[in-house]
Amino acid sequence: MKRRFLLSAILLPATMAFAQQYGGMWIPTELNEKEMKDLGMKISAKDIFDPSKASIKDAVVQFDGGCTAEIISPQGLLLTNHHCGYDNIQSHSTVENDLLTNGFWAKNMDGELPNPGVTVDFIADIKEVTSQILSGTDGLTGAALDAKIKQNTEAYIASQKVENYQKVSVKSMYYGNKFYAYVIETYKDVRLVGAPPSSIGKFGSDTDNWVWPRHTGDFSMFRIYADKNNKPAEYSKDNVPYKPKHFLPISIKDKQENDFTFVFGFPGRTTEYLPAIAVEKVMNETDPAMISMRDVTLKVLDEKMRTDNATRIKYASKYARIANAWKKWIGEVEGLKKSNAVGKKQEYEKSLIAKNPEIKATIDGLNKAYNEQAPYALNRAYYSELPRNAETLALASLFSSYMDAVESGKSSPKSVESFKARLAEIYKDYEGDLDAKVTAQVLALYANKSQAQFLPSGLEKFKDPNANAVTLENWSKNSIITGRGSLNGATTYSDIDKVFADQTKLIQTLKSDPLIQLWNNIKSSYVSTTHAKVTNLQTDIDALQKTFMAQQMATDKDRKFFPDANSTLRVTYGKIKGSTPRDAVSYAYKTHLAGIMEKYIPGDYEFDVPKKLINLYNSKDYGIYKDKSGDVPVNFTATNHTTGGNSGSPALDAYGNLIGLNFDRQWEGTMSDINFDPRFSRNIMVDTKYILFIVDKYADAKWLLNEMKIIK
Ligand code: ARG
Ligand code: GLU
Repeated sequence: MKRRFLLSAILLPATMAFAQQYGGMWIPTELNEKEMKDLGMKISAKDIFDPSKASIKDAVVQFDGGCTAEIISPQGLLLTNHHCGYDNIQSHSTVENDLLTNGFWAKNMDGELPNPGVTVDFIADIKEVTSQILSGTDGLTGAALDAKIKQNTEAYIASQKVENYQKVSVKSMYYGNKFYAYVIETYKDVRLVGAPPSSIGKFGSDTDNWVWPRHTGDFSMFRIYADKNNKPAEYSKDNVPYKPKHFLPISIKDKQENDFTFVFGFPGRTTEYLPAIAVEKVMNETDPAMISMRDVTLKVLDEKMRTDNATRIKYASKYARIANAWKKWIGEVEGLKKSNAVGKKQEYEKSLIAKNPEIKATIDGLNKAYNEQAPYALNRAYYSELPRNAETLALASLFSSYMDAVESGKSSPKSVESFKARLAEIYKDYEGDLDAKVTAQVLALYANKSQAQFLPSGLEKFKDPNANAVTLENWSKNSIITGRGSLNGATTYSDIDKVFADQTKLIQTLKSDPLIQLWNNIKSSYVSTTHAKVTNLQTDIDALQKTFMAQQMATDKDRKFFPDANSTLRVTYGKIKGSTPRDAVSYAYKTHLAGIMEKYIPGDYEFDVPKKLINLYNSKDYGIYKDKSGDVPVNFTATNHTTGGNSGSPALDAYGNLIGLNFDRQWEGTMSDINFDPRFSRNIMVDTKYILFIVDKYADAKWLLNEMKIIK
């Protein structure tokens, strides 16, 4: 078995019928049951997804529109990542009672904390509806095609009789070549049950993010509540714990390398079927552009955060957000190079053309369109990074929209109130002088890197970051939008109501604000030189990509295709495995508690370890949670093909028992969003042994363990 996997995954050419060799995120109604069984699966595809009877899918939900979560008890207990529950944990925190720092464990159900607005979605059924959605579209293109698809989709949804707590959603797959309908049930009363302290749930923070070996206890627990009939209901104290059709038993058996495993969840977005030219542009142009913008931002923020504790706290989440994609892109570029993604794709295109010469026209069209789009796409990459890095520019953009709304009569007292609330949120974690430095740097980069045709007039004066710093600090210091300059003796930071009380005067002041003028200048130049070009060419590319996708599927008969991720429910499978990412470097497949102690830096904001965990380590009080090495396993890796959105997804064993909680991928394999490579692409999971060890020995939340079905 092992031998076959290695051979097919690494050596055999593109025609091999081994489905998962390119990775794969399969629609649960279209699983490769035989291959899964060959790899070790002991249950059937129907056990995983069956619309007519209880199956594993009844235990897997999309958590609050982004992450995945799974049900682990007959009373609707939900497991997801700490980073997925982060906002909710934070929203229940105060300075005196900081749940992020201290962790939180409800003592019983009465102690669970409601989270208004948080939802979980179950998928009750999936049907392919391509013929309905594409009926009458023959010969149509462009806007006429889109309109007909929209009309058919609406008609299909209207024709479906579903319960009043269900809705139907139609999703395009394979770039518009196929369509699938989903019946969705949304539960709205989701309460926080428990979370470890950040020093466990976020251990290693940004330094370790995307990195293996890893030691993060990235989990938190919630519970779904329902009305008396077990149906979705708005929050009410009369609601009762949801009784699931299925919940996942939790296995704490020792894992072995090469054990079969699968991950069930809601991956967000991948682009596995792009032409070589598109991958080349990502690798050589757009990713490096976005990385370079974030490089300078992170450097400026880091300098201040290291020396000032207040800044560190204010900017922690912002820094993490900017660093998360930055680090992934760096890994992606390296991985694309290392896996020879462009070369491989070029060869593949040649082999397709050899089988079907018509494909040449499609590839030629794509090459031409991508080359034509490239300078505009590059400008878009730089432009879109400006307000993501420089909050001062984001503020300028917000204030500018506010001015437009007022002047066009579209502003209402309600919209002004919500604008003010939004500003208060931003100012809470914003330091104008620090952001002026960030703005100075990203503007200089933008001014230096923009081709002359895209450079907004006047921006050539912003090429020197040091000169920018002086100018920006001056403007920022006196500006209303940064909360530093005053109007009528008040600032937006100190007394926002007073500033907004005299709207006429406020608008007048904003009109002469150089920061707003600067942003509007950059934006209007982008709109006039780039926006229409880049989007029109994208429409052409999308149409060609649809054809290319259909041609790949029709021509490459030996390959099993899966649709790119689009936030719908998928299954991916593989084996528990370490890796050899670099010459002479090999990674074992699991880490242990001893490794946490090796990384421990007392008092550090990333690598501190809670005292109680140190005590457990010293006393070796591991109970049933150690493996045969005598230590508690913490994280492990496997060859499952996952992406953003798979956070919180269950990793299951051959029998459908929960063995891990997905939360990340290893850096060297993040090009798997574009080009999965079984040599380097690994997903990272929290071991169920560590989760239960923390719940039991650290949190002493035995009442939760009693709900679960634990397989020893
Ligand atoms: N890299 C993971 C993801 O893409 C985890 C992010 C949260 N953790 C962090 N240290 N920022 O979402
Ligand atoms: N951390 C990611 C998430 O939040 C999962 C990691 C990945 O991109 O694979 O979904």
